[in-house]
Amino acid sequence: MTGETEVSNTEDVYILAIESSCDETAAAVVKNGREVLSNVISSQIDLHKLYGGVVPEIASRKHIERINQVIEEALAVAKMSLDDMNAIAVTYGPGLVGALLVGVAEAKAISYAKNLPLVGVHHIEGHISANYIENKDLEPPFICLVVSGGHTHLVRVRDYGEYEILGRTRDDAAGEAFDKVARAIGLGYPGGPKIDSLAKKGNPDAIVFPKAKVADAPFDFSFSGLKSAVLNYLNGCKMKGEPIVEADVAASFQKAVVDVLIEHAMLAVRESGLDKFALAGGVASNSALRAAAEAACKDNGIHFYHPSPILCTDNAAMIGAAAYYDYIRGVRHGFDLNAVPALKLGER
Ligand code: KG4
Ligand code: ZN
Repeated sequence: MTGETEVSNTEDVYILAIESSCDETAAAVVKNGREVLSNVISSQIDLHKLYGGVVPEIASRKHIERINQVIEEALAVAKMSLDDMNAIAVTYGPGLVGALLVGVAEAKAISYAKNLPLVGVHHIEGHISANYIENKDLEPPFICLVVSGGHTHLVRVRDYGEYEILGRTRDDAAGEAFDKVARAIGLGYPGGPKIDSLAKKGNPDAIVFPKAKVADAPFDFSFSGLKSAVLNYLNGCKMKGEPIVEADVAASFQKAVVDVLIEHAMLAVRESGLDKFALAGGVASNSALRAAAEAACKDNGIHFYHPSPILCTDNAAMIGAAAYYDYIRGVRHGFDLNAVPALKLGER
């Protein structure tokens, strides 16, 4: 990375952002970090559904097929051209290496051809920054719970681009647990939204599943034990010939996840002395998690923020939002920018 002088904040900044870390090929044009002029997402979900999860090789191939079209559409919707852009932003990690590489190579090519500054963005920083888009008043510091298919992080956002990880999952991510439990009860992929809607018809107190806690680590999570408990429950019912009420299993599992997420998050907010809490990531669109977060924040006098569902799951607008704050601080990447599949938050 090369640092350059900070940019004056009197001129408008237009960023073309690209996201291809998993199974969504996405491009967006974002003005001044918070105004989304276009947000095009080409999802591969229908393709990966056939295999019950994301197949990395297929994801990379599809990104290559779709990326140019998605970028052209993002520019067309914004009624702008590459000549109007001030910078190109791209997710360079964490994620699937072959998938990330497509976006990174594309961004580097555009940056070179159009002589535009290149800003590499951390995917999780993107998820967190999705909150800035619809909450124009939100400024760091705040506590953010990032819950997606690949990550479960409790983060103290100290400033733009400055993060302290307070807690994380020791094994499965929250979204991964949703997807695995959904598969076990035959709901298909991706499981999160399906469990969310089925749970509305079930009793969350029907089955008591263990909490995904880790001894002596109040901000960490462990979802693999909870997932196993659900699988054991299902097997036990089958062996005893007892009927399985899928809606009750979904509601009870979801409650176990939501309870521990909110409990740890509220403890983190209280200990931080801050009064702002945000949700981010695909699981942040879960209706039970949102309702529980809203109620807990109200009880504790905390301001609650969350992105719309379309900005919770993978998209490029969130990458453009994160990139803006990097860009105005002078963050620039060179043509040696590479995909970093296990990139750590706060690392450059
Ligand atoms: O953030 P995201 O699009 O991708 C990653 O960066 O991982 O998150 C995808 C995850 C999937 O595991 C999906 O099942 C979950 O988010 N998800 C949900 C809901 N919508 C998406 N989980 C629970 N409830 C939902 N409504
Ligand atoms: Zn994501």
